[in-house]
Amino acid sequence: MRILVFSDIHSNRQALEAVMQKETAFDALVFAGDVVDYGTDPVFTVDFFRSFKGCHHVVRGNHDDHLINVYRTGEWMRAKGKDFKWIHHNCRLLSNEQVDFLDSLPLHVSFSADGYGYLVQHQYDEKYGIIESPYAFDNYWNEHWHGDGDISLGRRMIFGHSHRQCVHVLQGDRLWLNPGSASYRRPDDPDKNAQYMIIDNGNIEFRSCPYDRSIQRAEAEKYRVSGEMMDTEIQDFMFFFGDAKTSRDPLF
Ligand SMILES: [Fe+2]
Ligand SMILES: [Fe+2]
Repeated sequence: MRILVFSDIHSNRQALEAVMQKETAFDALVFAGDVVDYGTDPVFTVDFFRSFKGCHHVVRGNHDDHLINVYRTGEWMRAKGKDFKWIHHNCRLLSNEQVDFLDSLPLHVSFSADGYGYLVQHQYDEKYGIIESPYAFDNYWNEHWHGDGDISLGRRMIFGHSHRQCVHVLQGDRLWLNPGSASYRRPDDPDKNAQYMIIDNGNIEFRSCPYDRSIQRAEAEKYRVSGEMMDTEIQDFMFFFGDAKTSRDPLF
């Protein structure tokens, strides 16, 4: 089985399109959470998962939960001028049905393929914690794994959230996988490409591809000019998706 694994697309239409145009042959799709926020096109990213017809395993991330909360409390309608954030922008564009879809996504998904068990979720704890001991791995696995099938070759947890592409090898048959973010990097990684992972018959391969960032930048520029976004929001955006060296580079 060939599995396309990606995470943290964060409303980035152009990155999602680039990955899907490059990877046209796969048997299952895994997405480890954060469909929305920070990017400019949540409608496209939400509807991509809503309408995906093939085998897929998709979980909810903390930004998805945040959007659901801000949307349903109506907070997004009360944000004005310099209080306006990308989460409000995302809420403004989405419908009740799209938010209900995000809310319907599970926090954990289990499945097996080619002799391996996979347990998918967005994050391990409230911050950016990782599992470093076999004991903690087994506890977490036993609590959340509900799959069946042959997993004699190993147990693999897939996490998103950190936006850092990595595999952690723990003692025995235990792996922690993160495909990175298909959308944007953390400050310690200046790479602007869309990162993801292919697992082909159990073999793990990190991949990435470039995408056109100019469309999102033009949209962000619109909000900067209109004064609708906080300067810090625009600074984050210019670092995540533009060419700013830090998330606090001056805007002028
Ligand atoms: Fe994220
Ligand atoms: Fe996250």
